[in-house]
Amino acid sequence: MMSVVGAQPFIKPMQSSPSVSPGNQRRHTLPASEVRPLNTQDAISVFEIEREAFISVSGECPLHLDEVRHFLTLCPELSMGWFEEGRLVAFIIGSLWDQDRLTTDALTLHKPCGSTVHIHVLAVHRTFRQQGKGPLLMWRYLQYLRCLPNVRRAVLMCEDILIPFYRKSGFKVLGRCAITVANLTFTEMWYPISGHAYMRRNSEAIRFPQNPLTLPLTKTDEQVDV
Ligand SMILES: CC(C)(COP(=O)(O)OP(=O)(O)OC[C@H]1O[C@@H](n2cnc3c(N)ncnc32)[C@H](O)[C@@H]1OP(=O)(O)O)[C@@H](O)C(=O)NCCC(=O)NCCS
Repeated sequence: MMSVVGAQPFIKPMQSSPSVSPGNQRRHTLPASEVRPLNTQDAISVFEIEREAFISVSGECPLHLDEVRHFLTLCPELSMGWFEEGRLVAFIIGSLWDQDRLTTDALTLHKPCGSTVHIHVLAVHRTFRQQGKGPLLMWRYLQYLRCLPNVRRAVLMCEDILIPFYRKSGFKVLGRCAITVANLTFTEMWYPISGHAYMRRNSEAIRFPQNPLTLPLTKTDEQVDV
């Protein structure tokens, strides 16, 4: 079962932007940039991005609105949203899976005892694409997964045209995916979650690595995956 303790580092907001009022008292405005887990109140914003990104293109989308709500209720700790001044600009939604390969059940089920994170969807709002946000959010998400004690790998299914995109994030091809949606076929890709920051945090010998939620929103060349 996913440990709540393991998810704790994720809860902390990455940045806040307190401003100073004329009376010199601090008040809080919406953060310029914030990465946080999604909740069911974000479902509409998620679906609006999906509608433009997928439905308008193919008539299909990875998660319909009720499925977005379903996963954000069952496993919000496996989602990650990037907000700019309170507006959702990119997101990832995942759930746990307990088999080597994805089957149709993986599209709708969350298997709390599984050690595989099934990434259902990564999407960036249209006006924020081509800025590196998708790869950066994926990198942050993969770093975050290392904090979760039982997670061993992440898997996703994508259309072949996106294989190079996910390869750049470190994913490797697992093979043809058994799932088809309408006329669409997919390739399954995976990413090993190694290093287990959670275990290392509990070891006095090794310092807990940098909290992924406090990592900068610009990935430098030095910040490579481990
Ligand atoms: C795919 C996506 C997440 C990339 O995020 P991004 O922040 O725009 O990524 P980048 O800034 O790195 O730039 C886009 C890169 O993504 C790749 N890419 C984006 N859309 C693509 C598409 N439809 N087909 C192939 N490659 C695509 C390209 O490799 C491009 O690289 P380039 O800079 O060499 O042209 C974003 O375009 C998106 O949300 N698309 C719609 C939803 C989607 O297809 N999600 C993935 C499937 S779940």
